Amino acid sequence: MLITVGSERTTEATIHLCWKTSEPIVIAGVELKPHMRERGAAHLLYGRGTESHHLVIGLGEVAGISYEILRNAAGVAARTVQKEGFQTVAVHLEALNIIEEIKENENITSWTEGWLLGSYQFDRYKSKKKVFPLEKLHIISTSTDGEVAVQKGIIRAEGTMLARDLCNEPPNILHPESLVEFVETHFAELPVDIHIYREEELVKQQMNGLLTVGQGSSYKPAMIELSYATDPKQPLIVLVGKGITFDMGGMNVKSGRDISDARFDMGGACAVLGAMGIISRSGIQANITALIATADNMPDSRAFVPSTVITYPNGLTVQVGNTDAEGRLVLADALLLANRLGAKEVVDICTLTGNVGEALGLGIAGVWGDQSFVEEFASIGEQNGDRVWPMPLIDEYEELLHSDYADMNNMSSIPYGGAIVAALFLRRFVDPSIRWAHIDMANTVQSKGDKGYYTAGATGYGTRLLVDFVLSRQEEFFK
Ligand code: BES
Ligand code: ZN
Ligand code: ZN
Repeated sequence: MLITVGSERTTEATIHLCWKTSEPIVIAGVELKPHMRERGAAHLLYGRGTESHHLVIGLGEVAGISYEILRNAAGVAARTVQKEGFQTVAVHLEALNIIEEIKENENITSWTEGWLLGSYQFDRYKSKKKVFPLEKLHIISTSTDGEVAVQKGIIRAEGTMLARDLCNEPPNILHPESLVEFVETHFAELPVDIHIYREEELVKQQMNGLLTVGQGSSYKPAMIELSYATDPKQPLIVLVGKGITFDMGGMNVKSGRDISDARFDMGGACAVLGAMGIISRSGIQANITALIATADNMPDSRAFVPSTVITYPNGLTVQVGNTDAEGRLVLADALLLANRLGAKEVVDICTLTGNVGEALGLGIAGVWGDQSFVEEFASIGEQNGDRVWPMPLIDEYEELLHSDYADMNNMSSIPYGGAIVAALFLRRFVDPSIRWAHIDMANTVQSKGDKGYYTAGATGYGTRLLVDFVLSRQEEFFK
């Protein structure tokens, strides 16, 4: 699909964005009813004969105006246009210029991003695929560098869709070994160095969390290291992702009528890979390393069992209280490796605990770590839609990780505050000289249905959050 920017032109349908104010709005001779201007509303005014059609998208009250409202509106509009089978559409974005702080080019990027993400579908395994005839979206704007803004939106959406694709893939297709192959192929032509730690090298590096968790699977675990170092003199930023391609719980096997969602336990890895895809295409001067700890968590006669003790190369020993708390075991390897690589800043992102959803619901992930770092993430997420809420590291809860026969247990001794205790577990593997943030996105990794720019399935959460974090240290995106 082609996205163009420029002056008004004739298309099969025109999209109008409408706030819910007291001012009347008349489109094609029809005065809009208040419900048509509610946030999330989409109404079509069909043209007669050769007349063009009009799609009215409600933005709701002006209070709380944000680019996120626009991204969501674009997602709703894109799906409506798909359903109607239009070939060419145009959109008016002027309604957003209601306050000065809103920038036209940001509007164009947000609309493009929301439009593409809202049209996304994962239909690889459907024999009857829906085919949409949409060929062209025209954005009506007087901006002189609107094309750059569109391009930016496309790159951001593509990175996020890569994360969605990988996360949606079932575990018989995407397992630790095929993930490694994918990364090798996908990043082959990009300015990224790839190093894969597996088998003997995992043993040599004492990545005992990965080796232990991966024991029960027929697919070998790996640590994937991707390095984008266009300016190696800059302080090293390490992005760590949890890549459990299927979390069956191990010997503490998960149960339920359908636990297919356990394939989303690689959401953190997908966010990091999506972000690295965008970063490595951006041409920015940076020094970023991605570490993906990938394994399957399967029960099997060779699988690890509760009471196993894992010894890490920093000397810490961990008693496995529950094999289903596997994420922190493999992330510990990655955090220690980040220390060894000389990281100055480390961000880990993972679907770590069910508890984070109990605390925060399904719309906002949790972030722990150094205060200023955590606040940076909260503010970036507020802008770009990958929202995070600052959570506490409570020293008094450390005792909940007590083990009678090892330095610590991998699960809390009480069934409360599990997400905080998991964060405290990870903290033990981070050198205090490193600025560290931990993002638990177990609650935002998937959307149960089509809503705004989300479609049912993986959300691609975290990709844009990581990209904007890296860009916050850059002067300009495109060089
Ligand atoms: N991957 C899960 C966390 C999770 C739960 C992600 C629900 C998405 C949806 C993680 O490995 C896990 O199973 N955690 C356990 C830890 C417990 C056994 C201490 C949990 O949160 O229940
Ligand atoms: Zn688990
Ligand atoms: Zn897990």
